[in-house]
Amino acid sequence: MKAAPKHWVVLPAAGAGRRFGSAVPKQYLPLGDRRVIEHSIAVFIEHPLIAGCIVALSPGDEWWQETAYVDHPAVVRVPGGAERFDSVANALAALANQAAADDWVLVHDAARPCLTTADLDRLLAALIDEPVGALLAVPMHDTVKSAEEAFGARVERTLPRQQLWRAFTPQAFRLGQLRDALAYCRAERMAITDDASAMEQLGLRPLLIEGRADNIKITRPEDLPLAEFFLEQQRRQEQR
Ligand code: C5P
Repeated sequence: MKAAPKHWVVLPAAGAGRRFGSAVPKQYLPLGDRRVIEHSIAVFIEHPLIAGCIVALSPGDEWWQETAYVDHPAVVRVPGGAERFDSVANALAALANQAAADDWVLVHDAARPCLTTADLDRLLAALIDEPVGALLAVPMHDTVKSAEEAFGARVERTLPRQQLWRAFTPQAFRLGQLRDALAYCRAERMAITDDASAMEQLGLRPLLIEGRADNIKITRPEDLPLAEFFLEQQRRQEQR
């Protein structure tokens, strides 16, 4: 009998966080009682369905060794790459030594510290019998404008928001398919900003799973106190 697919986590954490503008990369900044990246990892490590976690770090990383997971047996570090998808590709290559091609890989931004166990459970449940894969996302509630470079900051047109979603992470795909999709995009020199886009380039249609809007990615300095507030709210809701 074929073994049930396992679930692995890949955490791209090799970004310098230039938009954030701090000397310490945003994934290592303190957030409540831990660092951002420690929150991002904890939800997976504490989950019984997760077999292990690969963290892609910048070769010059001097902060990982101070985290709580540096010697954790289920967390392995690999060198990251120039772009996010290079970091993910490196982690997938390392994972291929211990995982099967049809195992699930959940790719999650190290800079997203507010993922809840309930959202993770919903994503994992959606993977049962799912042929392509799934991602957490939130329907767009704002009106979205597109601007053409030639127009500077002027509106080109308004997009119909009924069909628009904001793509979050985790995004879960089969190890073999995601490797193929990323290899294809890298060979074609496509600039992709999430893993679902790579799958879409192969003509596949990932499933959108509506998640919580507080699963934010730390991008700007004002996101950090917001994340602290969200984590505190989540903690209070759990206590009720
Ligand atoms: O820059 P951005 O916020 O889109 O990065 C999303 C995630 O990808 C972050 O966790 C960041 O550390 C990671 N990343 C990476 N390798 C890069 C660039 C970003 O692992 N070269």
